[in-house]
Amino acid sequence: TATTDGETADVLVVGSGIAGCAAALSAARAGAEVLLLTKATKPDDASTDWAQGGISTTRGDPESLKADIVDASDGTADPNAVDVLVENADDAVEDVLVDTLGVGFDETDDGEFDYTREAAHSEYRILHVDAATGTHILRPFLNYVDDHERIEVRQDTAALELITAEGRVHGVMSDEEPAGHPIYAGATILATGGIGALYGRSTNPDDATGDGIAMAALAGADVADMEYIQFHPTAYDCEARSGEAAARNQTFLLSEALRGEGAVLRNGEGERFMDDYHPQGDLAPRDVVARAVETEREATGEVVLDVGSLAFETDYPAIAERCRDRGIEGDEIPVAPCEHFLCGGIDVDEHGRTSLDRLYAVGECARTGVHGANRLASTSLLEGLVWGLRAGADATSEVQRTSKRSGGTAERFEPEIVDAPELRTRDPDLPERFAAEKFTRLTRTMDEYLGLERDPEEIARASAVLRRLKGEVDAYVRTRTARDLYELRNASVVALLIARAAGENTESVGCHYVADDETPLP
Ligand code: SIN
Repeated sequence: TATTDGETADVLVVGSGIAGCAAALSAARAGAEVLLLTKATKPDDASTDWAQGGISTTRGDPESLKADIVDASDGTADPNAVDVLVENADDAVEDVLVDTLGVGFDETDDGEFDYTREAAHSEYRILHVDAATGTHILRPFLNYVDDHERIEVRQDTAALELITAEGRVHGVMSDEEPAGHPIYAGATILATGGIGALYGRSTNPDDATGDGIAMAALAGADVADMEYIQFHPTAYDCEARSGEAAARNQTFLLSEALRGEGAVLRNGEGERFMDDYHPQGDLAPRDVVARAVETEREATGEVVLDVGSLAFETDYPAIAERCRDRGIEGDEIPVAPCEHFLCGGIDVDEHGRTSLDRLYAVGECARTGVHGANRLASTSLLEGLVWGLRAGADATSEVQRTSKRSGGTAERFEPEIVDAPELRTRDPDLPERFAAEKFTRLTRTMDEYLGLERDPEEIARASAVLRRLKGEVDAYVRTRTARDLYELRNASVVALLIARAAGENTESVGCHYVADDETPLP
């Protein structure tokens, strides 16, 4: 039945990484009353907090940054989207990160920014705070939005379903009590992050279950480029020497900035090998390095990142500490590729508008076209920031343009009466550990068949397993509003979208490497 007994917001933002915070900030600046919903309970539940290397600027040469983005993507990045990113990069960084939040990017002794470099960047142009940049951006950003008079931040609250009517999105059903609590909004901005939880090893937090992508796809929004999943070449290889199980939480990222500043890869025979794979050697695009690392691991037993030429302890204290915690001694750190970033997602335009009216998507859950088939390092925080700001402003002007006048002079949003999905709370006696067991089956399938290298037969096998799994999950979803069940539903929807996209794309390009494709790849 139609209900309006939920809450209302001019602009509803779902997610509390850099993209969600930026969207909330710009919507509030434009005059909107914003509700920021996040299932996070602490900052490091968002991938932003885990970002190491930094955030790219143009450093006065936008054309060179554009060329690097397009080259890293193997020519597949959308040039219009790249223009939007690059033309807005420096202003966004300066206005929001430096002036508003006061992020203390590292400086040289002369008081200039200490720009670093990462793979496939032709210039030193990346701002950073040692190699813990995400933390140093997100924490002041969360404080800022939390203190803002027009932004309410609600933690530990998940969006379960979009409320839709005739192609328009009217908000979300949340998992607040009473279960299935509707929140109506003039515009809804999804900023729910990536999909790392679908893989056994990822540089993302466990919360990255693809929620926004699944909700949007189920509501009929277009998604694109779902096969382009970036594997970072240098995550700590927990199995290499310690024999630790390859559980996700046991790995951690070794920033590409280390190679940007001179660290090198060596195989199990102590030899450098990247020059055999690409003219840019250790600084080749990420997809190329990840495949090379895997090939050399298989051939020689192990690959290490040799940080001997760096002032590792002094310049990278956070990474050095993690190495110490693991008992890694010396300059050689065992590495292996692991899931890092989804280049595709909910298809959006230059303002973050999806194919559904009043639904926006920003950050990793969105596919802007900037990354094409392979993302250039240090463009993800930037993309989240730029598109977050644009979507927040666009959503607010859309709401202000069409809202009903509710008295006085202010234009305030008043919800239309639409049917909200009915979510039931009855516990259908779920088998104990149902969600956890299904999740394990899902991640094993993704690791085995939809990883760094794909094969058409294996993709078909994965699709069959995932379809069966989704059927089993669907039988339970909507019978209770448990968050783990919805996360499992979301992960299984996204896994199927990935399998479908991978199966339909028979051409090896960027992150999507089809084993028996004839296309020559570096
Ligand atoms: C890294 O520090 O290597 C990750 C940077 C990125 O993914 O952009």
